[in-house]
Amino acid sequence: MKLLLVFLLAAIPICCYASSNCHAMDNVVAQTINSSVSVAEYQGVVKSYAFLPYDRKAVAKLKQCFLDQSEETLANVKVMMEIIY
Ligand SMILES: *[C@@H]1O[C@H](CO)[C@@H](O)[C@H](O)[C@H]1NC(C)=O
Repeated sequence: MKLLLVFLLAAIPICCYASSNCHAMDNVVAQTINSSVSVAEYQGVVKSYAFLPYDRKAVAKLKQCFLDQSEETLANVKVMMEIIY
């Protein structure tokens, strides 16, 4: 599961490059790793960009997975995303 998440996150900058819509991607990433954003709010954010065909349930699971992580893990993800960019 963790590996899958890493792949998903790694795909984000690729989409960003392909669509030259980096600001939107930055925002989605920020919302993904922000533990004060609820699943419902997150779905709204993803929907407003709809950069990929997506499955609402999959989006909810992804967000829930991040909500289940500790602040420390989220901080690590943030660092990792900065390295990828
Ligand atoms: C997380 O989201 C909340 C609510 O949208 C926002 O007020 C806060 O600034 C965000 N925190 C970070 C670190 O982006």
